[in-house]
Formats: sequence, C-alpha cells, structure tokens
Amino acid sequence: MHAPLLPAHIDARRAVFVLLLAPEFFLPLRRYAAAYHQGQEAIAAAEVLQPLTAGSGAIRAAAIAPRSAWTRPAPSVQLEGVTVRFAGRTRPALRDVELYLPPRRVLGVAGASGSGKSTLLRVAGGWLVPTEGVTWLDGRSTADGHRALLIGQQPYLFAGTVAQTLALGQPDLSPQQMWAAIESAQLGPVLRRLPDGLDTILGERGWGLSGGEAQRLAIARAFLSSATLLIVDEPTAHLDRDTEQSLLEPLERLLRGRTALIASHSAQVLAISDHVVELEDGTIHG
Ligand SMILES: Nc1ncnc2c1ncn2[C@@H]1O[C@H](COP(=O)(O)OP(=O)(O)OP(=O)(O)O)[C@@H](O)[C@H]1O
Ligand SMILES: [Mg+2]
Repeated sequence: MHAPLLPAHIDARRAVFVLLLAPEFFLPLRRYAAAYHQGQEAIAAAEVLQPLTAGSGAIRAAAIAPRSAWTRPAPSVQLEGVTVRFAGRTRPALRDVELYLPPRRVLGVAGASGSGKSTLLRVAGGWLVPTEGVTWLDGRSTADGHRALLIGQQPYLFAGTVAQTLALGQPDLSPQQMWAAIESAQLGPVLRRLPDGLDTILGERGWGLSGGEAQRLAIARAFLSSATLLIVDEPTAHLDRDTEQSLLEPLERLLRGRTALIASHSAQVLAISDHVVELEDGTIHG
C-alpha cells in the first residue's frame, strides 16, 4: 500500500514550517516533564537525607540502636479530618480521615492499589501536608517539620559507597555495626559479593542494586537509626516469597518499641502489626 508522505491538504512549505515549529510547540510540555522528574528525584533525595533530621538529637545511634539509645520516646500519631487532593485529580486520594495511633503501636495499612496507602503513610509521617486537616505527632502539628523515618516504596540511591549510604548522619558507625544491620535486612548474601565490600560505590555510576535490594538497604539504615517513628511502604513488594519470609522477623524486630505504619498487600507482613486498617478509595475502614 502506498501511503502519501504528506496529507493532501498540506503543501511542502507548510509542512516544513510545522516541522520547524513542532519542538517549540512541545517545549513547555518537555519542561513540565523534566520538572516533574526533578521533583520526584528531590522527594527521593529528601528520603535519603532524612536520617539527618529524623529523631534529631538522637542521631548517634548505638549498635543497631538499642532501645536505651533512643533519646526521644516513641510518639503518638493522630490524623484529624485529613483530606488530600492532588492537582488535576477530581477524586481526593484521602477523604476526611480520622486516625489515632498510640505510642509504640504498629498500624498495618491494607487496600487495593491506588486506594491511598502511600498517601496516608506520607501524611502520617509528616512528609505530605494534607489539603485539609492536620497530622499531630505527640500533639504537635507536623507543619512544624516533625518527620518520621520513611522507607519508601521506590527508594533512591545516591552515588556513594555502601558505608556512606548506611552512615548518613551517623559518622561514628563501625563496620561491625553496619554488617549487623545489613544481615538483619537480609542483604548479607548480596553485599558480601560486592567487589570492594562496604567501600563499593553505589548509584548511577556505580554498582546497581535492584529495587528490592535498595529498599532493604533503606531497612538496614533504619536498623541503625534511633528514629522512633517509622513509615514503611510495601517493604516486600519487590521480593520473592522466600526473601519476604526471611524479612518478617527482622521487620518485626525493627518496628517493635517504635510507633510505625506499614503498608502492604501481604497478609504475612500485615500480621506484624497490632491493628490493620483497610483503605478503600481514600476512606479508612476498621
Ligand atoms: N503525586 C501525585 N499526583 C497525582 N495523583 C497522585 C499522586 N500520588 C498519588 N496520586 C493518586 O492518589 C491515589 C492514591 O495513591 P497512592 O499512591 O496513595 O495509592 P496506594 O494505595 O499506595 O497504591 P499502591 O498499592 O499501588 O502503592 C491514586 O489515585 C494515585 O493515582
Ligand atoms: Mg503505594
């Protein structure tokens, strides 16, 4: 079949003109896409940098942060009339949510994909300011800047060594402490194979880690942290059954004694929590 190069209603001069203008026409859209990606990277980078602020005053954690090293008690979390609307979305991601989580309790968050789990976790941890309503940590509004340690759904790796990634904000950690956290996060077999051990450079120009491995590195960092409020978003989503199974006991150990919210599609992961709520279309049940 012969397809014409140009449609009949457009001559060659016009076609060249349109072709020349096309990049200019789409420039704002390209800029918008680039800005969106920069925004996403900035959020991910903030997650990596947060150990510098989360649980501040208690940043120098002892080996796998024994409970006695936490200088702050675990806080309660309260959401009052929380609604979140994202720009360009007609339906709110969260709708008038009321929630109270006492100190040192673990709340499991279940619900279908898109039901608002990650949004709820971000709001509860002080990472996202709701459109309406307020989040209180121990009676203080998160608008003051109080934030939980967040183990996000899509962790981001900075270029840097394994040791630098683990020790962010904690310059005094020993290799033994780091390896203990790595083993707890079920990353021992992966990281023991690295060419330069803890000095192996990770990130875009370095050694690549899969999504599940990067998330377990974030879990290892959490083990070393003294933050008393943890937000854990689908920690086993990238993992096979056996690896998920082996992470259950360490996860329970990580969360025990801290206040935590954990979102998951896995019944076994949710079983770690003291109580499970179900999200449906931005509304909380249970
Ligand atoms: N930054 C954003 N901009 C616009 N809409 C968003 C944004 N983040 C989330 N949403 C929308 O808000 C709703 C809830 O998203 P959320 O990520 O909280 O769901 P989820 O329950 O965590 O899903 P999953 O199980 O897939 O992780 C979805 O409809 C989603 O498309
Ligand atoms: Mg999610």
